[in-house]
Amino acid sequence: MTRHLTRAPVAASPSFSSSGGFAVAILGAAGGIGQPLSLLMKRHPMVTSLRLFDVAPLAKGVAADVSHVDSAARVDGFVGDTQLGAALHGADVVLIPAGVPRKPGMTRDDLFNVNAGIVRDLTAAVATHAPAAILLVISNPVNSTVPIAAEVLKTRGVYDPKKLMGVTHLDVMRARTFVADAVGGEEDGERRRASERPSYDVPVVGGHAGVTILPLLSQTKPFPRGGFSEKEIASLTDRIQNGGTEVVEAKAGAGSATLSMAAAAAEFADLALRGLAGERGAWGCAYVDGGGGSEIKARGLEFFASKVRLGRRGVEQIAGLGRMTPGERVGLEKACEELRGSIAKGKAFVAAGG
Ligand code: NAI
Repeated sequence: MTRHLTRAPVAASPSFSSSGGFAVAILGAAGGIGQPLSLLMKRHPMVTSLRLFDVAPLAKGVAADVSHVDSAARVDGFVGDTQLGAALHGADVVLIPAGVPRKPGMTRDDLFNVNAGIVRDLTAAVATHAPAAILLVISNPVNSTVPIAAEVLKTRGVYDPKKLMGVTHLDVMRARTFVADAVGGEEDGERRRASERPSYDVPVVGGHAGVTILPLLSQTKPFPRGGFSEKEIASLTDRIQNGGTEVVEAKAGAGSATLSMAAAAAEFADLALRGLAGERGAWGCAYVDGGGGSEIKARGLEFFASKVRLGRRGVEQIAGLGRMTPGERVGLEKACEELRGSIAKGKAFVAAGG
């Protein structure tokens, strides 16, 4: 994010300057993710209106706090259902980190009973008050909450598959970090200068839970000299898939990833905003309708995390899965099997009027 935050404001995009800036709403802004995400979005040079909503009254305090950060965005806090419409009205991008996080021993699916209803209700409000907004769902289990949001938007007649995305970017961020650590880690205890740290782009596809998180290490760019050993592939894949659990256990009951998640969400929101502003080349990974291209469609899976290009209308291009190794193909089978159930569960929840 730093790269984008520190660049010259406004002038970065010619089409942005004519649009005058964007309105961003964060639903769940008083939470562990919501607070640092509010701060990061306040500092974003393309944001001119930041709406911070939560059922907790603390949202007003968070708004007062971040409003003192010296940047262009006007900040308003909104609390409770009666203020939700005002928070959403005219929003270009809506981020939803509302809901309960995991505790040690829990899977993301264990959150379904609470978070499914929260995402359903917040999406219904988005359908009413900001039907054209890009909707970025962070609340877990993402593999099911995104299908829930889609069903709600369909029921309201405002579903645009290009504008709904599950935020899986933290998996990409973790993959980049763990690969850089493994390939270009500190040697002999010597500290590397930041500029010497290698940076890698690793597509992470599938979904956002356990085996559905499928890092395509064979497509790492630049591909490390000497490649990855089988052992490295196994340990990197395992760590990327279980990075969330690593944090849940380290926080020992006090929540799940919040700071890295906020950084990832802000980085992904930045891509969405740059796409909206008409910049070319805003590529990232997200859990989207039609993700994975024809291969995944042929399997009957409606949602899949893929590399996508963001533009003025949201997702404007979905990359195919590319060449995968036999090991990655085994992972793909496992991911698809689990995703099928998670997607069906989300759809059934809405169909049952849940
Ligand atoms: P938290 O408990 O710290 O914050 C959640 C916030 O949501 C609270 O402020 C709460 O008052 C608010 N909230 C609850 N119901 C609401 C509603 N109906 N409308 C508006 N706000 C509401 O939880 P945290 O750590 O911020 O996590 C939030 C969600 O993000 C969890 O579901 C967690 O599993 C998920 N998450 C997703 C990740 C991803 O990669 N997509 C990574 C990490 C967490």
